[in-house]
Amino acid sequence: NQPIVTLNNGVDIPALGFGVWQMEDLKECENAVIKAIQTGYRMIDTAAIYMNETAVGAAIKNSGVDRDELFITSKLWVQDHGYEKAKLAFQKTLDRLQLDYLDLYLIHWPFGDFLGAWKTLEELYQEGKIKGIGVCNFTIEKLEELKAHSTVMPVINQIELHPIFQQKELQIYNSENKIVTQPWSPLGNGNADLLNNETLKNIAERHDKTVAQVILRWHLQEGFVVIPKSVTPSRIEQNFNVFDFELSEDEMNTVRSLDTNKRIFFDPQDAEWEQKMLNSVADI
Ligand code: A2P
Repeated sequence: NQPIVTLNNGVDIPALGFGVWQMEDLKECENAVIKAIQTGYRMIDTAAIYMNETAVGAAIKNSGVDRDELFITSKLWVQDHGYEKAKLAFQKTLDRLQLDYLDLYLIHWPFGDFLGAWKTLEELYQEGKIKGIGVCNFTIEKLEELKAHSTVMPVINQIELHPIFQQKELQIYNSENKIVTQPWSPLGNGNADLLNNETLKNIAERHDKTVAQVILRWHLQEGFVVIPKSVTPSRIEQNFNVFDFELSEDEMNTVRSLDTNKRIFFDPQDAEWEQKMLNSVADI
């Protein structure tokens, strides 16, 4: 009975999930995912390149919650783009997670032969091995390219998005194309300027909540599907405790006005970053 968002293919996804990027310590990751599932999270977002799919798989197995009650996302790494490679990479991801299907599988970056990879995802989707397929870090231009060469539209575009970097143009493009926006690093990766922002502190005090909770609430009320990461049990609980209050339209607009249009992380349009990713040797 937690809020859900319905994707363009009719599949429901929990509106709030648990992100595991930057959990390199496998035992810590496993414990955090178990804690999250015990707390009530039903959606887990991992990726091949996070190198922790085995820990996520172990946590799912040991969580005591049935697999079909969980929504599991993973992502295809750029080194595995192209039709054949993508097939093998998907199977490896399933094996590491000890699963026989994924709820959502995403192309991690719009680099290299992502169109060939998308063909594989379309096939796996038609075969029922993935319940929904989508993308990450796609710009409008890349989404247009994908649209021109595919038969299945992505259900989700996962992008860097938080109050200081809101990507409004892309948000609008996504929703006009019935693609759900899924922010990564919704808390700005714990950015101190954001979590200590006076405006947000005022709103938080008014609701007797923390700044992190206000930010997550803002994402949910924007209609986003949000995946905060934490390895700290009290924060894992705190971040899930956001369903008992509501921001007013004025407060929503106040948060919207904090946009500086400056990213914290990688720019998908940065050619140097693209080359670095394509040339890196990821031993997944
Ligand atoms: P930690 O994992 O040590 O608890 P994002 O999901 O935006 O990338 O943010 C993740 C970062 O924010 C992590 O460093 C995490 O720290 C921190 N974080 C997560 N939840 C909270 C919270 N409720 N309050 C403060 N910091 C948080």
